[in-house]
Amino acid sequence: MNTGSFDDFGMHILCIDDSASQLVLYRDLLEGMYRVSLAETYEEAVACLSSMRPDLILLDMNMPKVSGLAFLDILRYTPNYASVPVIIVSGDSDVEHVKEAFRRGAADYVLKPYDGEELALRINRLFQLIARARRSERVSLSVEGSGVLAPAQALLVQSLSDLASARDNENTRHLERVGLYARALAETAAKNPLFRNSIDGPFIDKIAEMARLHDIGKVNIPDYILKKEGPLTDREREHVRTHTTDGARMIDMIRLSFPDYAFLDFARELVLSHHERWDGTGYPGALAARAIPLSARIVAIVDTFDAITTDRPYGKAVGFDEASAIIAEGRGTAFDPDIADAFKFCQARFREIYEKQGEGAPA
Ligand SMILES: [Fe+2]
Ligand SMILES: [Fe+2]
Repeated sequence: MNTGSFDDFGMHILCIDDSASQLVLYRDLLEGMYRVSLAETYEEAVACLSSMRPDLILLDMNMPKVSGLAFLDILRYTPNYASVPVIIVSGDSDVEHVKEAFRRGAADYVLKPYDGEELALRINRLFQLIARARRSERVSLSVEGSGVLAPAQALLVQSLSDLASARDNENTRHLERVGLYARALAETAAKNPLFRNSIDGPFIDKIAEMARLHDIGKVNIPDYILKKEGPLTDREREHVRTHTTDGARMIDMIRLSFPDYAFLDFARELVLSHHERWDGTGYPGALAARAIPLSARIVAIVDTFDAITTDRPYGKAVGFDEASAIIAEGRGTAFDPDIADAFKFCQARFREIYEKQGEGAPA
């Protein structure tokens, strides 16, 4: 079979499939033409991606733990991999699923059982397009020069929080307010000698920036659940809960591309742990008291406060005073008692944000 072309020799393909026999088929088909790496689990795929950047990924739609669609999202929003084309190979011919895969950035969709030669031709066609794009990229790079790092970090956080706001709480400014409230609460808590060593200026700046990312994992939750009016079923609730671990995984993927971006560890902590409760009954880790990262203990309060003062598909907003009373009630059960005390001492600043930035306020 001659499907290769002049400039795709040495191209690297990562094949991800939970079936070992499918991986053998890929290897037999592709190894003479390309460099081939195989991954049978999500963890193996992540390990491969941390050590190399493939030119193409063949991805099974139905992987355990992380679905093909969720993996597509992770790749698409990980700067180093966003431009790696992904061919979905799946036995699922449901046209809605096929369309969803394309919406999430799949370059192609091949149905199992497939014809080996056809798959190789599709791969070759993609490689020709990539080679063409790379040639024009080289031309424009030589004209423009390269970027700088610090604005790149800010841009990364900005794009992540744009992504988060596009997905969750559409038309509300929940994430913006959570950032503002988090700064106010951290500044007040810093006055308590207990936090003198842990909450300093850089901590306050980081939490103000990163708190906006707390629900980033919701990109993987379908709209029909996020916007459902009325109570969720047990299964739907379980699904929503995965936004903490999914969000942390997204940040892990970004760290693969930017190993020096230690500031993302801070975001990871609050993304993973903002639904933990002081009494140990929260999720995903059922952590208790100070085992919960401080950033997450602060975000837990401001996220709850803003959620209950905003109209949601599943409930009407309560007023400022009622919301403050609910936070006070959670002192020592849901919330860190010392942070809940700090909350009491910054009512004036919260009220100012609530009135200027709340849903009733002018946009
Ligand atoms: Fe959340
Ligand atoms: Fe939230």
